[in-house]
Amino acid sequence: MFEIKPFNLNKMNPSRRNFIKKSAVATTAIGASAVIPSKVWSAKIAPSDKINVALIGCRNMGFGILKHHLNTKLVNCVALCDVDKNVLNQKSQEVREKYNQEPELIGDYRKVLERKDVDAVIIGTPDHWHCLIMVGACQAGKDVYVEKPMANTIGECNIMVKAAKKYNRVIQVGQQQRDNPIFKDIMDLIKGGEIGALRKVNIWANFNYGLGTAFANDEPVPNGVNYDFWLGPAPQRPFNKARFHGSWRHFWDYGGGLMSDWGVHLIDMGLWTKDLLKGPQQVFTYAENNSEQKAMRETFDTMNVVFPKDDFVINYDLTAGTEQGPYDTMYGISFIGDKATIVANRHKYYVLPEWDNKKGEHKTEEITFEKGQESHRAHVENFLECIKTRETTSCPPEVGRAAAIHAHIPNISARIEVPFLKWDDEKNLFTNCKEANDYITPEYRKPWKLPKI
Ligand SMILES: NC(=O)c1ccc[n+]([C@@H]2O[C@H](COP(=O)([O-])OP(=O)(O)OC[C@H]3O[C@@H](n4cnc5c(N)ncnc54)[C@H](O)[C@@H]3O)[C@@H](O)[C@H]2O)c1
Repeated sequence: MFEIKPFNLNKMNPSRRNFIKKSAVATTAIGASAVIPSKVWSAKIAPSDKINVALIGCRNMGFGILKHHLNTKLVNCVALCDVDKNVLNQKSQEVREKYNQEPELIGDYRKVLERKDVDAVIIGTPDHWHCLIMVGACQAGKDVYVEKPMANTIGECNIMVKAAKKYNRVIQVGQQQRDNPIFKDIMDLIKGGEIGALRKVNIWANFNYGLGTAFANDEPVPNGVNYDFWLGPAPQRPFNKARFHGSWRHFWDYGGGLMSDWGVHLIDMGLWTKDLLKGPQQVFTYAENNSEQKAMRETFDTMNVVFPKDDFVINYDLTAGTEQGPYDTMYGISFIGDKATIVANRHKYYVLPEWDNKKGEHKTEEITFEKGQESHRAHVENFLECIKTRETTSCPPEVGRAAAIHAHIPNISARIEVPFLKWDDEKNLFTNCKEANDYITPEYRKPWKLPKI
């Protein structure tokens, strides 16, 4: 098994230390405070002027994001909205007990959007709902934190980008790695030429949950659940718990499996190296179900995707149902350059230099950093700051769209069994396969209508 030798920042030469000191991670690495709120409320607004937020989709990630909002002490939670009353009751109790707040409990998000006192909404629903709710919120004059992937289809992503612009809203897409000091540092290193020409970004994502859940029979809708509303614009189907809370992500009507679940986070880092905001021009996809472990899902358990870019290549490698990967990690990214490779995940990174035979030394400095933290809180703080300043967030819809499209195209490729697709991002069309174009825009189940912007 490959073992990465732990290096010590303190052993680094002074020039490297200075470089790193200037960057975000160093603040934590060298021992200064990692708490960021000094930036929050830099706009000329009284600290007492709190932002009223409402959460739509409360069970898991949405609630986590709400708690990060509440922990800043800069917001009031005025409403919780969910189509499952059991979730609403449980989460409202926690908000009451931990935060001493009494949000209104709402089953239909449109009632949330009608409330004039709501400044911002957090969207924590499954992916098939993101577009309708986000566009409705923009039209109602709310700012939006929408979880990733920004939407479940390319067409919906396009509509959301337009809506944000047309209604001039502040939108944060939940790709929180954009506020992770580890990745900010890595981008500084790469853009500053520290690893030489970037040649490849290799990404791996191996998780057991990617296989789906145990087989389950259709059954009556549980008490307290408005299942028709949960389905919303997605096709009508009998209730099955394997397609419901949490595990919906393995079924095309609501999500895109590990390809989009982790893909958007990790591919986004590859795009960030060169600030790429477009969909991929070409995509080569291998997708199969090679695991003998049986579970309920439609998405693929084994995928390899190649995204050629102008002067480098992004490779995405997914093996659901396994948790071993390169460098003994379940997921990660290696950024391969002429002078060094950077290996990273959300908590650590290593710069592994190439050896210069002529000079008898490394081509750049070795670095190790192993004390990173999750970045949801920083991502939320960036959102709140931008609500006040009206500046662009760290992950605006254009960034969310680019990442989501990079996940949706390989999934389309896999579903129609066409391993090579060419995409024209200006025309929003596949140019070498008519069938693929049928997957760009979803057909909404009545009475729901795909928003027109
Ligand atoms: N940023 C991250 O790291 C991260 C991590 C996990 C999940 N996510 C994203 O968060 C979103 C939610 O995922 P999850 O794991 O929390 O799902 P979940 O199934 O656990 O929770 C979704 C909740 O939304 C509710 N809901 C569904 N339709 C609704 C509607 N129309 N109105 C109101 N409530 C509705 C459900 O009843 C449920 O309570 C997804 O988009 C997912 O990709 C992001």
